[in-house]
Amino acid sequence: MTTHGSDATTFDFVVIANRLPVDRDDSTSPSTWKASPGGLVTAVAPVMRSTRGAWVGWAGAADQEFEPFDLEDMHLVPVPLSGQELERYYEGFSNATLWPLYHDLIVHPAYHRTWWDSYVEVNERFARRAAEIAAPGAVVWVHDYQLQLVPALLREARPDLAIGFFNHIPFPGWEIFAQLPWRAQILEGLLGADLIGFQRPADAANFRRAVRITLKRSTKDTAISVPTADGERESHVAHARAFPISIDTAQLDSLARSQETIDRAREIRRELGDPEVLMLGVDRMDYTKGIRHRIKAFGELLNDGSISPGEATLVQIATPSRERIEHYRQLRDDVEQAVGRINGEHSTLHHQAVHYFHHSYPRDEMAAYYLAADVMLVTALRDGMNLVAKEYVACRTEDDGVLVLSEFAGAAEQLTQAVTVNPYDITGLKASILQAVRMPQQERRRRMRAMRRRLHTEDVGRWSADFLGTLRGIAAARRGAAPAVTAVPTRTPDTPPRDSAP
Ligand code: ADP
Ligand code: G6P
Repeated sequence: MTTHGSDATTFDFVVIANRLPVDRDDSTSPSTWKASPGGLVTAVAPVMRSTRGAWVGWAGAADQEFEPFDLEDMHLVPVPLSGQELERYYEGFSNATLWPLYHDLIVHPAYHRTWWDSYVEVNERFARRAAEIAAPGAVVWVHDYQLQLVPALLREARPDLAIGFFNHIPFPGWEIFAQLPWRAQILEGLLGADLIGFQRPADAANFRRAVRITLKRSTKDTAISVPTADGERESHVAHARAFPISIDTAQLDSLARSQETIDRAREIRRELGDPEVLMLGVDRMDYTKGIRHRIKAFGELLNDGSISPGEATLVQIATPSRERIEHYRQLRDDVEQAVGRINGEHSTLHHQAVHYFHHSYPRDEMAAYYLAADVMLVTALRDGMNLVAKEYVACRTEDDGVLVLSEFAGAAEQLTQAVTVNPYDITGLKASILQAVRMPQQERRRRMRAMRRRLHTEDVGRWSADFLGTLRGIAAARRGAAPAVTAVPTRTPDTPPRDSAP
């Protein structure tokens, strides 16, 4: 933290994300703050706690203004959204235009000019707030698809800053991205950053290709020369490359080793009727997660007698998400109907085929579920990373358990010993679930051990250190304090995921 000028407090490190790590909860009296949903918050909160920076974000409630406040070693700076902005900027442009577009059109994106106008206005508000609290030369790290215009807005207002951007979700191929009527503005917005991070090399390559085709700019390895607004000279060189996000492995590992978690895991299995095999799905209730596909595959395995209800139980935990958006409502109805049908057909007094919970849980309870589950089903149709897959591995302290992992989740590039699946292929998915259920102990151990080893080095601390170290290097070069960086080599080549056969 730095103090300059009059009495304004400014910060050397500022995170900007649509959401603060906590949401306002007005259902309690007095109102409280509760952890907000999603992988972004899970990953960025530990980074934030270890710095003395500020986090600029929305408090999750419309038409409410809050003063900045400190919570759990974090300084939080709320940005208000009106009810109309909630509809147009958040539910509209962010989650009914960009979200489906960037997840390869799993549902149709809607394009509305009023939503775009609201997106621009809200991005301007976030940029203004960050510019007010950033100390001279501060590092400002902007997160995710809701705020893609912020980097260029910030650069215009505060050229002294080192500006990083990280996209937590996929960046689509040009043929898909090209649908977006505001594609050039989005790319120009992102190019305001010194460093633009993506989950996979393929996402970074898609972005660079979009820049080449849409803006007719050349790229050299990861580097893109960005001109000033008048086009007369170079403003800066932006770099776009992959930084796969991860989890706080050590913290989850130690949580899973605690006696409380071990006892709770045993209790969960007991409460579920001590099934031979406990299968688990944990997701936000989102159509990208392939929850319907997973439940369909499980239902068919019961129907055709490959699995008996007494043998295996599926627990599906789904955090409520974006509930006012039609596709999300439809998904919830579909999932609940499918669960009801399977239970109606296959449950007995002693064994329930599917246990479904539409709640969010504290971290220690999540760790207990991960520890209790023999098989984890991550069947995303498209996912930037999927931290749930990594969390499951981190909690398998006995080196057992099987991860069934979609090849369309970014995590498949690191967790190469998982049983990988194409979730659209229901027959293949059923075969992979059976393979997981019947996998010999020795093979489980070999696979799990290798994945755990990797996660212990490639954790969230390394992700943020890598990103911020690279950003500081690029910004120093721009300011002339270090040799010019012309290209940051990609850590991994721009190739599709490796075949994950063991
Ligand atoms: P996304 O960011 O799309 O939601 P991720 O898998 O990357 O997907 O991250 C989800 C995060 O939310 C994980 O940290 C996971 O533990 C957490 N989470 C998911 N479901 C629940 C739940 N029901 N209760 C509490 N936390 C949850
Ligand atoms: C994903 C996105 C985040 C988002 C989170 C929860 O993790 O990458 O940006 O915050 O989902 O979604 P929500 O719309 O509730 O913020």
